[in-house]
Amino acid sequence: MIKKATFLTSNSDFRNCPDPTKPEFAFIGRSNVGKSSLINMLANNKNLAKTSGKPGKTQLINHFDAEGKWWIVDLPGYGFAQVSKSIKADWEKMIKGYLTSRPNLKATFVLIDSRLDPQKRDLDFILWCAQNGVPIVLVFTKADKLSVSKVKGNVNKFLAASQVIFEEPPLYFVTSSTTAVGREELVGFMEEVAEE
Ligand code: GTP
Ligand code: MG
Repeated sequence: MIKKATFLTSNSDFRNCPDPTKPEFAFIGRSNVGKSSLINMLANNKNLAKTSGKPGKTQLINHFDAEGKWWIVDLPGYGFAQVSKSIKADWEKMIKGYLTSRPNLKATFVLIDSRLDPQKRDLDFILWCAQNGVPIVLVFTKADKLSVSKVKGNVNKFLAASQVIFEEPPLYFVTSSTTAVGREELVGFMEEVAEE
């Protein structure tokens, strides 16, 4: 668990984000996939990042400090249908600008809903990451919603679908924000990478 996490800044423009003086980890994925909930679960603090049952809650680049050692970044979701084309384009620019301009970005966690078959939007996004040199780690969310064997099946389907993108299968974690499954593994990974 992250023992002490605090809010730092919210920005609509990656150029205004904090100077890259500490290692950071970004959380991205479709709207409503559970990015903000996962961050709260990792820090055991329900009020840290704003969450909602309605997609489109997180609209800015939000930096949080973890134990004074590294940063966590909550991003808006992609693929949110209910906003205008121009807002969607703005969000995409904000996210992609951010992901390609942070020298301290150690890993980008791409969250995938473990209940679903591989989605084109997710595959398109990780293809863009691969093509732009953005190192990703997959995080399957909402694992509490289905059986362990169903989760395994869906993880394998996703890995199979992403085989055309990666030479080596990406690292992945299975998580649930309600049961805290995967918390120690994910925090352990970040601590290790932040110290490298
Ligand atoms: P945007 O900010 O809109 O892009 O969404 P987000 O990806 O940050 O999702 P958020 O964390 O706000 O969660 C969306 C909804 O999914 C909320 O109703 C959460 O309670 C629910 N949710 C998130 N994670 C889990 C989980 O692990 N298990 C279950 N059962 N529900 C979850
Ligand atoms: Mg959010």
